[in-house]
Amino acid sequence: MTEIPALYGGVTSRRVTPRDLQRAKARGERWAMLTSYDALTAGLFDEAGVPVLLVGDSAANVVLGHPTTVQVTVEELLPMVQAVVRSTRRALVVADLPFGTYQAGPEQALGTAVRFLKEGGAQAVKLEGGVRVAPAVELLVQAGVPVMGHVGLTPQSELVMGRRVQGRGEAAQALVDDALALERAGAFAVVLEGVPAALAAQVTAQLAVPTVGIGAGVDCDAQVLVWTDMAGLTPGAPLTFVKRYADLRGVLTEAVRAFDEDVREGRFPGPEHSFT
Ligand code: KIV
Repeated sequence: MTEIPALYGGVTSRRVTPRDLQRAKARGERWAMLTSYDALTAGLFDEAGVPVLLVGDSAANVVLGHPTTVQVTVEELLPMVQAVVRSTRRALVVADLPFGTYQAGPEQALGTAVRFLKEGGAQAVKLEGGVRVAPAVELLVQAGVPVMGHVGLTPQSELVMGRRVQGRGEAAQALVDDALALERAGAFAVVLEGVPAALAAQVTAQLAVPTVGIGAGVDCDAQVLVWTDMAGLTPGAPLTFVKRYADLRGVLTEAVRAFDEDVREGRFPGPEHSFT
């Protein structure tokens, strides 16, 4: 196995826990989170040392081809969570609660979260919203479910909110209040999405729990990206906050074309790929 850097006190023989992440914040250690939806990438990311994997509802777009995250269901996400859990040994696996499965109130949220922990094997759940969902977060944490919050640009509300940066001008205080409400309710970390960098830095300084930025500047305690964006598999120009670390789309396209051509020209399979 690839050697994992001694992050979080060198946690290698067990899964990373929410407490490890909070200790990392206390030590001023930054960490990375990536989305994953399948066994192959989950195993690879885990071996590479990524400490937190999110089975995000971005699966709606990335895996299932929906235009927004609103369409994905618990039944669709559960097998992905199971695959990611089965293929990892160290990463903390966080399951996103899909739109419509927790907004009705704390009891609904608990019912959905329990499914992801019991049937999916996830070690934590994530849900979107601040003050509004704080009672649900409180009930979940009291019931033993670790919760990651998510404020700022919350894609499940995009039909109302659009895809705009949140917390500018007078809206800044409401965003701070949302993050504080999540911390008070017991969330172990809070995703800040689409937030001005200075505001994200302020929230990060105010919270004792780690912030996880996506389009929220460098001062967050952690950073998350959708893995297909990070690796250059997503089509089109990358969004402003995305850094592409590879060109998987280019590599894969070339490989597929070469295979296709080899088949048409009778170059594949060669003798070395054939049985005698
Ligand atoms: O679903 C998702 O991928 C997310 C992250 C990008 C934060 O919520």
